[in-house]
Formats: sequence, structure tokens, C-alpha cells
Amino acid sequence: MEKCLIIFLCFLLGKSAFGVELPADIKKCHYGEEACIVDSINHVIKSYTKGIPEIGLPPLDAIKLKDLAILNSTYRGPVWFNFYMRDFVNRGFENSTVTHVKGFDRDPTKRKIEIKAHIPRLVHEATYEFVGRWLLFQANTTGDLESDFQNFSIALTLKVILEYRNNRRYLKIYELVPLVELDRWIIRLDNLYNENTDLTVALTRVFNENWVEFWNGLEPGILDGLSACFTAILNEVFQNVAYDDMFLPDHNYEE
Ligand SMILES: *[C@@H]1O[C@H](CO)[C@@H](O)[C@H](O)[C@H]1NC(C)=O
Ligand SMILES: *[C@@H]1O[C@H](CO)[C@@H](O)[C@H](O)[C@H]1NC(C)=O
Ligand SMILES: *[C@@H]1O[C@H](CO)[C@@H](O)[C@H](O)[C@H]1NC(C)=O
Ligand SMILES: *[C@@H]1O[C@H](CO)[C@@H](O)[C@H](O)[C@H]1NC(C)=O
Repeated sequence: MEKCLIIFLCFLLGKSAFGVELPADIKKCHYGEEACIVDSINHVIKSYTKGIPEIGLPPLDAIKLKDLAILNSTYRGPVWFNFYMRDFVNRGFENSTVTHVKGFDRDPTKRKIEIKAHIPRLVHEATYEFVGRWLLFQANTTGDLESDFQNFSIALTLKVILEYRNNRRYLKIYELVPLVELDRWIIRLDNLYNENTDLTVALTRVFNENWVEFWNGLEPGILDGLSACFTAILNEVFQNVAYDDMFLPDHNYEE
């Protein structure tokens, strides 16, 4: 038992002291070599759909997200609506293509890091809860929701700091701003309670006929959610794999 504990502790210490290496088939690039970095990230996305647990990369085909309040009004007047989503799963990152990166330089803090990607379909499955009041009409419904963002382009701008552990540099994101464009947003709502089917059908229709207005209204909340999601995923990987270990050694550089 004690031996196990010591081996386990050594493993933990070893892991933090030497960092985790990327799998050998992942091509390393020189700092700032943008085309090479794009290819290498796209290789990871295609080859590791189920993630890389050793480096903290989650399965890209089913990313679990935190619960999100899309509308959460504390106001209780004649018209108010709250819309919550929970048990979120995010599908479609496995089909994304990175089109552009910038800023992965030897000193990544000098300028902002940019990552642009295109995702043909980004699907969210969740349980929703919709409560509200429209004058005399009261809504209180729960069900399954599928949100489908089609031709979803995302540009992430990151500001990072460097942390030093055992002479190796680790990235840490302190700001991540997503910008999003999409061609179409389709929502499917399923009601768990039959008595409200008409409401669900009406809600779905209103939503899909007016998706641009809904998108414009909900975009700030959705961008906050995406920012939190990407920050958590990338920081997990950046905490595990030293920035220096993601690139080829740079012999020409004198500190
Ligand atoms: C909605 O907002 C209230 C008050 O601002 C907060 O207490 C509550 O936790 C929020 N609900 C959700 C699901 O975020
Ligand atoms: C991703 O691509 C695969 C293969 O083309 C497809 O079966 C799957 O449905 C796609 N995922 C999403 C969320 O569209
Ligand atoms: C909605 O319905 C559920 C179950 O019927 C109930 O517990 C909840 O208090 C209701 N919420 C509102 C805001 O009416
Ligand atoms: C998504 O992009 C493809 C290729 O550009 C295009 O054929 C398709 O019509 C687009 N989808 C929507 C919903 O606009």
C-alpha cells in the first residue's frame, strides 16, 4: 500500500517536474511557423477525435459544457422569460478545420495569439427549462433541445502569460475573446410534458423563422459561454504540456 502511494506520488511529481510530452505522431514546428502549426493542429483534430487524456484534451466529438442561463431576468413584470440549459453536450469540434493561426512566437506574450477555425455544424444537445409570462399567458416547460449552428466560423483572440516550472515555460490564458459568424441557426425543441406541445411547436417555429434576431439578442451570452469553454479546454492542455515542448528546440535563440 505504502509502496503504491510512493509510486503514485513519484508519478505525480514526475508529471509536474518534466511535463507531459505530446504523442510522437504530432509534428512539432518552429516558433512562428504558421502554416506548419495549422497543419499540425488539424492533424490532432482529425487523429484524436476521442481526445488525448494524458494531456487533458477532451473528446472533441462530445465536449461537456457548464450549465448556461441564456436569459435570466430577475424582473417579474407582465412580460418576462428565463431560458436555462443544462446537461450540455457540444458536438462537431471533431469536424473543425483550423484555417489560420498567429502569435505562436518564441515570446507568445509579445502580440496576441489568434486562432481561426471553420466548423460545418456545431451541435449542442441540452435539457432546457423555459419559464416566463407573456401578459396572461404563463410558460413553464422543460424538454430536450438541439441547437444546430451551420457553417460556424470562429476567431479566437488570446492574451497569455508565461509561467515557469522547472525551467520550462507554460502558457496560461488570461483573456480569450471569441468572434463568431454563422450561416444558419436551427433549433429543435422537444417537450417532456405533452400538455404543452402547442407551446413547444409555436416556440420552435418562432425561433427558426427569426433566428437572426434571436442570435443578435443571445450572442453576448453565447460568446461568454464559448469563451469559458475554450479557456478551460486550452488552459488544461497548456497546464500539462510546456509551451517549449510544443515546438522544435530553438538553438539560435540566446536568452
Ligand atoms: C439567475 O440570476 C439570479 C440572480 O441574478 C441567480 O441567483 C441565479 O442563480 C441565476 N440562475 C441561473 C440558472 O443562472
Ligand atoms: C462530423 O462528420 C462526420 C463524418 O462526416 C459526421 O458523421 C458527423 O455527423 C459530423 N458531426 C456533426 C456534429 O455534424
Ligand atoms: C414550473 O413547474 C414546476 C413543476 O411543475 C414547478 O416546480 C415550478 O415551481 C414551476 N415554475 C414556475 C416559475 O412557475
Ligand atoms: C454552408 O457552406 C457550404 C459551402 O460553402 C454551402 O454549400 C452551404 O449552403 C452553406 N450552408 C448554409 C446553411 O448556408
